[in-house]
Amino acid sequence: MADKLPILDLKRSYAAIRDEINEALERVFESQSFILGPEVRAFEEDVESYLESGTVADRTAVGCASGTDALLLALMALDVGPGDEVVTTPYSFFATASCITRLGAVPVFADIDPATCNIDLKEAAAKFTAKTKVFLPVHLFGQTVPVEEIAAFCRERGVAVVEDAAQAFGAWRRIEDENAKAANAVLRAGVMGDIGCYSFFPTKNLGACGDAGMAVAADPRVGERLRKLRVHGAGTTYLHEEVGLNSRLDAIQAAILRVKLRRLEAWNAERRVLADRYRLLFGARGLVGEHVTLPAELAGNCHIYHQYVIRAKRRDALMEFLEQRGISARVYYPLPLHLQKCFAFRGYKEGAFPESERLARESLALPVFNGLLAEEQERLADAAAEFYTR
Ligand SMILES: Cc1ncc(COP(=O)(O)O)c(C=O)c1O
Repeated sequence: MADKLPILDLKRSYAAIRDEINEALERVFESQSFILGPEVRAFEEDVESYLESGTVADRTAVGCASGTDALLLALMALDVGPGDEVVTTPYSFFATASCITRLGAVPVFADIDPATCNIDLKEAAAKFTAKTKVFLPVHLFGQTVPVEEIAAFCRERGVAVVEDAAQAFGAWRRIEDENAKAANAVLRAGVMGDIGCYSFFPTKNLGACGDAGMAVAADPRVGERLRKLRVHGAGTTYLHEEVGLNSRLDAIQAAILRVKLRRLEAWNAERRVLADRYRLLFGARGLVGEHVTLPAELAGNCHIYHQYVIRAKRRDALMEFLEQRGISARVYYPLPLHLQKCFAFRGYKEGAFPESERLARESLALPVFNGLLAEEQERLADAAAEFYTR
């Protein structure tokens, strides 16, 4: 039997950077400085420069312990609390909504656009009330939400925009903006609103070797507040102006992420090639439309395919069939957020967000990672064709 095809194999990309990672680790060990410090600041500066390239954005980057904490810190920096509403998508990872309820605020969901799986901006706008404090779009699976289309609406209502860009570091969309620095300006995920939040969980396109995250702020004063909030709210050591978190990024993760950031553009480009190949392979086997729907990429968008998520007829049976042939596929996410037990207090019932619920029944993430081989993708497409034509 053929080797197992995993959903993700990080060993393949690690092999190419082993020496650089070892050098970076040695530098940190020699420094014996492990929490925050120059290595973390250097990584923050690397990200600030990366986000500037060809974009309209000046940002203050603040490393923290995880993507979840980045979201929590962002909402804390905007004083979100009891009585406030945050409009977001019901189709995302749990942390998108838990950061809201942890602060005593209320998540207000708006259904997704079935084409992109991202929040539908018209639905979202319709959910705004006088209590709406933040709009929290998620750039799901690595494709950006066209935040600029709702930016003015948010501004007029005094609603801040916090982007959950946990899955989209490096994704961008082309924009026409008179303030753009470059003629062909692009807006990167995480710099479209007031604060952008990234996760560097090891499976992400830019992944650490443990938990790590970052919040980037448009307003340097908000950046400063984030910096305080990540160290227990202390402006000066042991002097606390407010209660924050212990959410520091460590130097080892920062050093590793600096190495990987240098490769990111090439790695994301490789993922786009993999996505193109899936498109060709599924197309050539006549599966598209009748049996599966492939991810749609909006015009002007550079999708970075953090996940390659298709919709599949008889999804669960297909997944089992692939598993029997040693091919892993996963469901992100089987139960939308509005139906999670811990959010039952919101009173949402099944049927409240039909597109999200349908996606939960149909979505299937296929292996997409650096080093995935063409023959492995072919094997998967052949197995899918066998399943649908038996
Ligand atoms: C959309 C989304 N939001 C938030 C998070 C939380 O990030 P982390 O796992 O680094 O806490 C993740 C990552 O898992 C995510 O995918």
